[in-house]
Amino acid sequence: MDVGRVGVVGLGTMGAGIAQVCVQAGVETVGREISEELAARGRNTIAHYLGRAVARERITEEEHEEALGRLSLTTELGDLAGCDLVIEAIVEDLDAKRALFAELDGIVAATAVLATNTSALSVSEIASTTSRPERVLGLHFFNPAPVLKLVEVVRTGLTAPEVFDAAYAFVQRVGKEPIECNDTPGFVVNRILIPLLNDCVRVIDEARVSPEDVDRAMTFGANWPIGPCALIDLIGVDVHVHASEALWEALREPRMAPPPRLVRMKQAGALGRKTGRGFFEY
Ligand SMILES: NC(=O)c1ccc[n+]([C@@H]2O[C@H](COP(=O)([O-])OP(=O)(O)OC[C@H]3O[C@@H](n4cnc5c(N)ncnc54)[C@H](O)[C@@H]3O)[C@@H](O)[C@H]2O)c1
Repeated sequence: MDVGRVGVVGLGTMGAGIAQVCVQAGVETVGREISEELAARGRNTIAHYLGRAVARERITEEEHEEALGRLSLTTELGDLAGCDLVIEAIVEDLDAKRALFAELDGIVAATAVLATNTSALSVSEIASTTSRPERVLGLHFFNPAPVLKLVEVVRTGLTAPEVFDAAYAFVQRVGKEPIECNDTPGFVVNRILIPLLNDCVRVIDEARVSPEDVDRAMTFGANWPIGPCALIDLIGVDVHVHASEALWEALREPRMAPPPRLVRMKQAGALGRKTGRGFFEY
């Protein structure tokens, strides 16, 4: 499969980042949002980060313009008909994703590949709504997508080997580092990181240690580049709690369940950097 044109559905945090990665790598990209305002917001986000890259002399003004020129916007799903690969990055809701994949299945060519950026839902359940589950897989980018190198390339029991290989090669082509894995709850990074971060939060109350000192413990004692509380603030308390709940639902391992402290923070709107307050103030 030669990917000439990519579709990205949803231009929120992840979709805008994924679209940016594609256009910067020279790939024609069609971004679909549910309104023209949201589509324009996605484009502005991309233009903002490309502008910053120019200011930091990582790319030239010309490269900025060329990259933006490869992005087209639409609110019509039908405009993705000519895409060889569609990457879905809409809300983390199984019913919404299944409805979208069923619709996409009737729009794109029989040879096209459909990918989901889900963090914690079952790729197989999303794929089963299409007539082509062998051409569906997970492409799990990390936030912020233009910065973090990893992409988990997730195969279901039905993903065809040639589809998997083509998606893996595409990830390399856009400058990312793919790893291959099966469709299991949390895939690799979240399966490891979410219970680990939950343990760090539980220690705050068990050991009567402050969030500052938990972060100092892990940066000075384990050489982590960022403390766990600062990391949760960066991820977003709401995003982390949502992912914890999904893993707890799927695996029923107590470590996966969100600690009460995080649930209270979420209820209070102390979501981390995005609200100016989480474990720390910003
Ligand atoms: N935020 C993260 O850290 C992160 C990391 C990796 C993966 N993910 C996954 O990526 C996906 C998107 O997450 P996000 O954080 O970017 O969410 P977000 O809320 O920032 O963006 C979702 C966007 O999708 C749009 N949308 C909803 N339904 C749509 C539809 N039918 N067609 C087109 N657009 C539609 C919304 O208008 C919104 O702009 C989720 O599955 C999430 O689990 C998120």
